[in-house]
Amino acid sequence: MAPFNNLLLPQLLLLATLSATPALSYIDPSSADARVQQGTMERSAYGTYIVEPPSSSAGEAEHHRWHESFLPSWRTNTGEPRLLHSYTEAFSGFAAKLTKSELDAMAKKPGFIRAFPDRTLQLMTTHTPEFLGLRNCTGFWSNAGYGKGVIIGLLDTGIYAAHPSFGDHGISPPPARWKGWCKAAHCNNKLVGVTSFVGVDSHDQDGHGTQTSSTAAGNFVSGASFHGHGSGIATGIAPGAHIAMYKVCKAGDCEEFAILAGIDAAIKDGVDVLSISLADSGNIFDDYKNAISIGSFSAVSKGIVVVCAAGNSGSTRSSVKNDAPWQLTVAAGSVDRSFGAGVHLGNGRSVQGEALTQFPKKPSSRSYPLHYDEKLPDCKYDDVSHLAGKILVCENSFTQEQEAEIHHIMGAGAAGMVLYNDMVTQYSTILRFYNSSVVQMTAHDGGVITSYARERAAANGSAALVYYNNTLLGVRPAPIVAWFSSRAPRVLKPDILAPGLNILAAWTPNEDYSALAATPFKVSSGTSMATPHVSGVAALVKSIHPSWSPAAIKLAILTTADAVSNDGGPILDHRHEKASPYMKGAGHVNPARAADPGLVYEISTTEYAGFICSKLGDEGLAIIVHDSSLTCAKLPKINEVQLNYPTITVQLKPTPFTVNRTVTNVGPATATYTAKVEASKSMAVHASPGTLTFTKIGERKTFSVSVVCGKHDEKQFFLEGSLSWMSGKHVVRSPIVALSGMSI
Ligand SMILES: *[C@@H]1O[C@H](CO)[C@@H](O)[C@H](O)[C@H]1NC(C)=O
Ligand SMILES: *[C@@H]1O[C@H](CO)[C@@H](O)[C@H](O)[C@H]1NC(C)=O
Ligand SMILES: *[C@@H]1O[C@H](CO)[C@@H](O)[C@H](O)[C@H]1NC(C)=O
Ligand SMILES: *[C@@H]1O[C@H](CO)[C@@H](O)[C@H](O)[C@H]1NC(C)=O
Ligand SMILES: *[C@@H]1O[C@H](CO)[C@@H](O)[C@H](O)[C@H]1NC(C)=O
Repeated sequence: MAPFNNLLLPQLLLLATLSATPALSYIDPSSADARVQQGTMERSAYGTYIVEPPSSSAGEAEHHRWHESFLPSWRTNTGEPRLLHSYTEAFSGFAAKLTKSELDAMAKKPGFIRAFPDRTLQLMTTHTPEFLGLRNCTGFWSNAGYGKGVIIGLLDTGIYAAHPSFGDHGISPPPARWKGWCKAAHCNNKLVGVTSFVGVDSHDQDGHGTQTSSTAAGNFVSGASFHGHGSGIATGIAPGAHIAMYKVCKAGDCEEFAILAGIDAAIKDGVDVLSISLADSGNIFDDYKNAISIGSFSAVSKGIVVVCAAGNSGSTRSSVKNDAPWQLTVAAGSVDRSFGAGVHLGNGRSVQGEALTQFPKKPSSRSYPLHYDEKLPDCKYDDVSHLAGKILVCENSFTQEQEAEIHHIMGAGAAGMVLYNDMVTQYSTILRFYNSSVVQMTAHDGGVITSYARERAAANGSAALVYYNNTLLGVRPAPIVAWFSSRAPRVLKPDILAPGLNILAAWTPNEDYSALAATPFKVSSGTSMATPHVSGVAALVKSIHPSWSPAAIKLAILTTADAVSNDGGPILDHRHEKASPYMKGAGHVNPARAADPGLVYEISTTEYAGFICSKLGDEGLAIIVHDSSLTCAKLPKINEVQLNYPTITVQLKPTPFTVNRTVTNVGPATATYTAKVEASKSMAVHASPGTLTFTKIGERKTFSVSVVCGKHDEKQFFLEGSLSWMSGKHVVRSPIVALSGMSI
């Protein structure tokens, strides 16, 4: 795991070890076992290192030469240029190809600060605007000009620029402050920037970058659908915003040096929102020396809202990625849409599921024998000849082998297949296109069918018929947190929940796709899909409030989130149990309310720096903040509990724990807010003062919140509550979590 540990030289502080792959955060069940994202390790003699030389006050051209002066030669002995990138904004240093012994020699140069190895991160809509309350030509969406004048930058796999989602009808030229450039053939007022840091070709072979871009800011495209499903007018969340693509991933790999270069360029170019659907293997608490943590701090300090995926490792606890407090970390939930399909059982009962492949449109009314083998629940049959004319019942194992098996079985003449979720995925059904009669369903509904099949097997009576409902809307409850959406460790992360399950958006007509219909839209799942929804919301808020800081925009999105699902009950998880704050953050994103929060929380760059000092000390400060005039001695130490974050995490203890928070009035000049507390039985929350009275816009008020926990079940890992500041018009909500075993 740590091949570089032996490199600890006197002047060389090794900042990171080569670790397993961070990933593009989407679920591609066809590419590999979706639950295991494995990495490859670079073992060639030349490694890529991100190096911090002594700082120089030179201009950009000299800067480049200064960096080159550290290299043993301009080219490697295979003729490749050594200097991969000179950073100016996101980091003070450069990325270069070096051997270990060259790195050792460089580390002996006077003033050399440090180097760390580059890591390779891997690549892990029509209805969602409406689900988020955005209606065309009316209200908030049009007031926000659909995100007019805002530039959303994305770090991704490139873009299929010719896609109609990136047409610029109705879009004005980018604002004059935009300094980026666009090298693709289809640049226009919508697609204002395209730069590749992984070779010259900015085209999106993969489809991922095309999908995230169109979800954030795709233009209106009518007649969009995926094989006739989810049909309607496709649009991004901020269809009026501009798009700048920074290609940092190629063939599924996203190298950190390129990610940092992408962030560097996005800062220089002047993007307003940066959307990062990549999850690094590290997080700020146990591995902060990663490109996304470091680069995003610089971006936020330059006024950019940085939105990141929480990652897709949800089946393990403490799996959240991108958890720095300056990042807006997005979890994935379901949408109130289903691609309905199901089976009628011989006993008259119908079981509803979903299917992306729905043909023939009118299935025959014939029944077929149902085949379920308890010894082979995942349908790994050696001999498929006896399966013709039957409907198979199989547990989804999310492996490539099973996918091939399904094609094999269906090709051998099976009449259909019921593919049910396993006990890990439960109610989160990740749909895929099988091009045959495969109905997917929840673990619960799968249980109904398997017990029916078991009962009736002896009598040969079990029969079923597949039916299709095409697209159903208004499904309840929604959202539910998807099984793959990563869970949090300590601070309250992820921040927010957004649509990320079975999302329809633009796609590249690539090899993977050419077998399908010509329509370049695809249904995908992942926190990768949830992230650009929130980037679009940030653009809408920014369009209405251009002067708001990244923290104000981000934290307004948190305090206005929906705490309940569309059936009025609590937001559930993939097991249909109440979702904890560690899965859903502050709740489900609500765009219109985020733009009118009443009160906002602010966190300054100095406060973030104070937080870095309290967590990571002077070394963390030097690497992340890279401002040589700052030291931790000069900064306030602000621990995670006292940071002015609207979500409040305290220790689960019987002694009162008090935190202070400050809010700024951005609503009507005169307003009175009163505190409303909701909390678990064994938890008492008290806000002081209990009323906040404002007489001016921009006025700030500080309050303290004390939390006392009484007797509770020892097995309870946390207690949960909330504090809401209520005026007649606004609700400013803070989730509160008391966590056992938390050390502060
Ligand atoms: C919404 O409005 C835009 C611009 O006004 C228009 O181009 C688009 O077709 C409309 N979409 C719908 C769903 O009516
Ligand atoms: C069930 O079907 C099989 C194969 O079609 C047949 O051999 C068997 O006799 C049937 N059993 C009953 C109880 O009808
Ligand atoms: C889907 O179609 C089937 C068969 O036509 C019907 O019985 C069922 O009620 C439909 N389901 C929904 C939710 O509309
Ligand atoms: C799906 O299968 C049908 C026949 O089974 C075939 O005609 C069609 O080309 C296939 N479509 C795709 C997109 O593979
Ligand atoms: C919170 O504010 C109160 C009143 O201003 C102050 O006395 C206290 O020291 C503050 N607590 C912290 C932890 O900053």
